[in-house]
Amino acid sequence: SYKPEPGRNIILVGMMGTGKSTVGAMLAEELEYELVDLDHVIVETEGRSIADIFAADGEAYFRKAESAALQRMLEGERRIISTGGGAVLAPGNAETMLAKGLVVALTATEEVIIARVSGDANRPLLAGNAQDRVRAIMEERREAYRFAHCTVDTSELSAAEVSQHILMHYR
Ligand code: S3P
Repeated sequence: SYKPEPGRNIILVGMMGTGKSTVGAMLAEELEYELVDLDHVIVETEGRSIADIFAADGEAYFRKAESAALQRMLEGERRIISTGGGAVLAPGNAETMLAKGLVVALTATEEVIIARVSGDANRPLLAGNAQDRVRAIMEERREAYRFAHCTVDTSELSAAEVSQHILMHYR
């Protein structure tokens, strides 16, 4: 199994609502690493919300900004990087992540994801019927998260349990 060098980054990937941001914050605190939430980096760089970026410039533009932010953040070490659900899609991103740290895919059942993301106005991909959108996106991305070094199903675990589990793979 994967044994990272000391100080190596941990990169969290997975669908919206699988707990990447919450778990990332816990890992950063536990390891005393820098927390990088990729969506926040994009919002800061762009000076506007994710919803505004999608509305004004579309998803393709967002993906470019996301890939640029990801590649930039992967240049450091001792970082916990929680990525947006679509950060695995652009060609090359998965390979770079694998080279730059322990990549952990978080998963959850459709029901759990729908419950966790319902009513979130800042997730433009879920506009309209969020339930149908979650289903469709999960289906589209079924293979997209398989490249990770390991996978943790977060459906029935607390964030603390998920981070303990990840630390077992890391230490
Ligand atoms: C997206 C997920 C979001 C955000 C954007 C697109 C996606 O991040 O990057 O709305 O394509 O799955 P979270 O996974 O943190 O919700």
